[in-house]
Amino acid sequence: MTRRRRIYEGKAKVLFEGPEPGTLVQYFKDDATAFNNQKRGTITGKGVLNNRISEYLMTKLNEAGVPTHFVRRLNMREQLVREVEIIPLEVVIRNVAAGSLSKRFGMPEGTALPRSIVEFYYKSDELADPMVSEEHITAFGWASPQDLDDIMALALRINDFLSGLFLGVGLKLVDFKLEFGRLYENDEMRIVLADEISPDSCRLWDVKTNEKLDKDRFRRDLGGVEEAYQEVARRLGILPESGPRDMKGPETMQ
Ligand code: TMP
Repeated sequence: MTRRRRIYEGKAKVLFEGPEPGTLVQYFKDDATAFNNQKRGTITGKGVLNNRISEYLMTKLNEAGVPTHFVRRLNMREQLVREVEIIPLEVVIRNVAAGSLSKRFGMPEGTALPRSIVEFYYKSDELADPMVSEEHITAFGWASPQDLDDIMALALRINDFLSGLFLGVGLKLVDFKLEFGRLYENDEMRIVLADEISPDSCRLWDVKTNEKLDKDRFRRDLGGVEEAYQEVARRLGILPESGPRDMKGPETMQ
């Protein structure tokens, strides 16, 4: 049995060395955490669904001209991605007040925002991802002013595209988190979308009922967590053929 080199293990994913230089294999786990690891659990089938959902959304974004790290899905829980230098920022885009924004400003969840708001958080488990400004980011060298211009432009394009895509299947994209990386190619560097886009990193509400169909069901103990992830996949038209029973799948991790 061959053993692949494990490059990085996060809370919901593992990165392995890829089959060719400059590639990685991104493995999606069923593990879920919230509130910076204080709440832990498992969402059965989440890894399989997030692998599919992220594949679908990254492919659509690629087709719309947004550069991403995604190459192709390999199996139920793994996808091949380009190796990038991750910029240590969580870029959050908000269309409707919810979560930490509602708390910070005392704004009821569901209040429409006057315009889309982009926020930056410094990726650090020890510090619990503190919110940072462009001043901190450029002064501490996490990203250059040019990187930030590219990130802002990409984040807003992604928001427009995904808001429309989700609306088409009856879902409101309330807010979401993105990560970006630097891809080096022929002496050139470009910023590309990295990580994943899934109900772990988005707030998605049913347009008619405002029912939450995302990780807030886990964070807030609302029940129906697995079903919510399945419903998002079903609406996008990508639930595995034989339904949820197909989702445990062969474990290919070694
Ligand atoms: P927040 O309202 O808790 O700041 O979350 C904003 C969005 O970012 C929400 O869609 C969930 C997502 N998010 C992550 O993907 N990872 C995180 O660690 C946090 C705190 C939020």
